[in-house]
Amino acid sequence: MLNDTLGINAAGHLTFDGQDTAELAKEYGTPLYLMSEDRLRYNCRLYRQSMTEGFGPDSMPLFAGKSFCLTAMYPILAEEGFGADVVSGGELYTALCAGFPADRLYFHGNGKTDREIRFGVGAGIGYFVVDSPEELEAVSDLARSMGKKQKILLRLTPGIDPHTFAQVNTGRLDCQFGVPLETGEAMAFAEQALRCPGVELVGFHCHIGSQIFSWTPFRDAADRMLRFMRDLKAKTGFVTRILNLGGGFGVRYTEYDPEVDIPASIAALAEHIKARCGEWDLAMPQLRMEPGRSIVADAGLSLYTVQALKRIEGGKNYAVVDGGMSDNPRYALYQASYTVYSANRANDPADMVCTVAGRCCESGALLQEGVSLPAPKRGDLIAMCCTGAYQYSMASNYNRVGRPPVLLLSGAGNRLIAKREEYPDLVKLDL
Ligand SMILES: Cc1ncc(COP(=O)(O)O)c(C=O)c1O
Repeated sequence: MLNDTLGINAAGHLTFDGQDTAELAKEYGTPLYLMSEDRLRYNCRLYRQSMTEGFGPDSMPLFAGKSFCLTAMYPILAEEGFGADVVSGGELYTALCAGFPADRLYFHGNGKTDREIRFGVGAGIGYFVVDSPEELEAVSDLARSMGKKQKILLRLTPGIDPHTFAQVNTGRLDCQFGVPLETGEAMAFAEQALRCPGVELVGFHCHIGSQIFSWTPFRDAADRMLRFMRDLKAKTGFVTRILNLGGGFGVRYTEYDPEVDIPASIAALAEHIKARCGEWDLAMPQLRMEPGRSIVADAGLSLYTVQALKRIEGGKNYAVVDGGMSDNPRYALYQASYTVYSANRANDPADMVCTVAGRCCESGALLQEGVSLPAPKRGDLIAMCCTGAYQYSMASNYNRVGRPPVLLLSGAGNRLIAKREEYPDLVKLDL
């Protein structure tokens, strides 16, 4: 099995977090998202402990809310000693509704509107991660007009290629996020921030991409950021207090993906950064990292019911299910790989190679290709593993298919943390 959250019970049913997935499907219906609270907390603790040990107690992991943003997530994060990043007024609103401490929030995003800036400043959030010179002026002016001085980090692009796929590779020069180091614009950006009266520059942020399986791209990014901090200090005397290295450790979606040793990777990174700070006479900044998928991906699993099997003469076998790109667009978007198992016949021989097709009206609306399953028939249950990240948060109502519910599996008792979207919900914004 892909990881130790999965198993097979005496009934031949797939188990997730020790629970019978076929029974859960019967009780809650499908499509259904499952989320394991234990796994989620375990992943949080890996980061929290490794960062405290490596970087010291003033470091803090921030959860990348974009990967799974539901109110129920935030009390768990708060208890686990996390901060969080938000990238929109909607994510900010969600975190605040959940009572998450505003001063632990970092407001990201390259297209913040004045309304969102006012909302963030007014809510007293910890930091804006400012993405452009225009935004810098706007945050400064709006904060001043509200009688506040807003703490900020500046998002810089260090020009590192982490060799991940293009859609999740964000640290290159030619990208729509941040201000590049290599062209000299970052220095001008920092000097502009030091002159802006409505903001207090505290530090810098970079995010080089996602699904990164080695710590060395982070080391290379950190080197460039630290060199920049050194140059800025020499030029202006400014001492950087926070360095945020973004998110991105990879997760095992399939058995072909390597496993990242997060504690060892963070320890190696911490050693390197401490050594560089010593060498370049820099005060050790407070470190932030922003894991998203490595917190929630393997804590999630999705269940579908097969509606039909289409065996195309000379072509593929399509197992058509009751969900699709409306609840998980990642395969349609960038051919994201997942591991798929039969949930109700987990011991049967996986003797048919299938394409798992969604129900949405797009020929590219597949969920996965080339998966081996016991020849599926109507009513069979299919489980897609490691779906906790960028799935619920990317779900849509395409074809007016309602979003599935999310069931949090917990030793203290399972509970729904998002309801199934029903027909009345689908028309509630229509005028
Ligand atoms: C700025 C920023 N931080 C953190 C993340 C989280 O990345 P991951 O989910 O791969 O850990 C992302 C992902 O897009 C991001 O853009």
